[in-house]
Amino acid sequence: MKKALAVLSALLLVAIVATTVSCAQPEKLAVGIVLPTKDEPRWIQDQTRFEAALKAAGHNVEILFSQGDSSKEKANVEALITKGAKVIVICPQDASAAAAAADAAAKAGVKIISYDRLIRDTSAVDYYVTFDSIAVGAAWGDYLIKNATGTGNNLFLYAGAASDNNAFIFFEGAWSALQPKIADGTFVIRNSSEAVALQNKAKLTREEMAKIIGQVTTNWDFNVAKSKAEADLTAADKASKGTVYICAPNDGTARAIADAFGADKDVTKYFISGQDAEKASVQYIIDGKQSMTVFKDVRMLVDDAIKAAIALIEGKAPAARGSYNNGKKDVPAIQSPVITVDKANVKSILIDGGYYAAADFTGL
Ligand code: BGC
Repeated sequence: MKKALAVLSALLLVAIVATTVSCAQPEKLAVGIVLPTKDEPRWIQDQTRFEAALKAAGHNVEILFSQGDSSKEKANVEALITKGAKVIVICPQDASAAAAAADAAAKAGVKIISYDRLIRDTSAVDYYVTFDSIAVGAAWGDYLIKNATGTGNNLFLYAGAASDNNAFIFFEGAWSALQPKIADGTFVIRNSSEAVALQNKAKLTREEMAKIIGQVTTNWDFNVAKSKAEADLTAADKASKGTVYICAPNDGTARAIADAFGADKDVTKYFISGQDAEKASVQYIIDGKQSMTVFKDVRMLVDDAIKAAIALIEGKAPAARGSYNNGKKDVPAIQSPVITVDKANVKSILIDGGYYAAADFTGL
């Protein structure tokens, strides 16, 4: 029954998109989408799911990539405004730098939906669709804790890019789970003097988190992640290795960090987190090279973004459940749940659940 209702509402949504677009703006662009980079499989997932949802509905949509460059992002937004977009969905490359693009859109009467990452320091953001990013970080911490026994376990912390608001939220979630277990001696932080200096503080300010993130950032870049992990391994003595617990901020960086730790002869076993359920990491999990990932079902985010875009095109306020402060305003938001995936449930959640095809993997 639930399934039938879901299918029915999906069909209804498709019909609404088609009607709205064909009646209101038959030849013009209704919704433009700007994603941060083509170089990370996470954002190709979003592109694919957006195209599937919108093109099937006959909706005229254009997806542009910023390729890690805020000025390209702004040029993309300006191009979409010129093409007549009524709503632009932006996943910002840099949270604060994107404010200028959002301001330009607002000036042109275009509505802005912040997608996955929050655009900061502007009131020109109409709505925010996101995952529960605190839960993402907490899932990493919980997983590492679940697999640790005794005291003095070696902990290596890594974070996302400081220019991404999410990196702070993920870190906050991870810290909320791990800090009590650092304070009680279960874990010993091996790669961040800033984190060690703050290890008895349960709740960190943004500035305090910035200090730690500044030291352990991967900048969301596989190469930075790899060289940082290698430098940490070089600096660590033998006693700080053996079995290690690694808090890695996403799948791409997790694979790079796991490869570095896996290649160190003094590391006998490692547990490592991730997020995004990227195909390459799903294979790593099957092969025992990555311990877990946090599955964020991009279809839900895409669905929320489309619903919000339709509401905004119709001059209505999209349904919100809560809000996020972006430094300038409380942005109405909707947030999707996340699921921890490891070797035990990877098949049931991602394959049997219909997200990926079994044929995409070996050794399932
Ligand atoms: C997203 C993650 C992604 C990361 C790097 C974050 O803002 O929420 O899913 O892995 O950016 O692109």
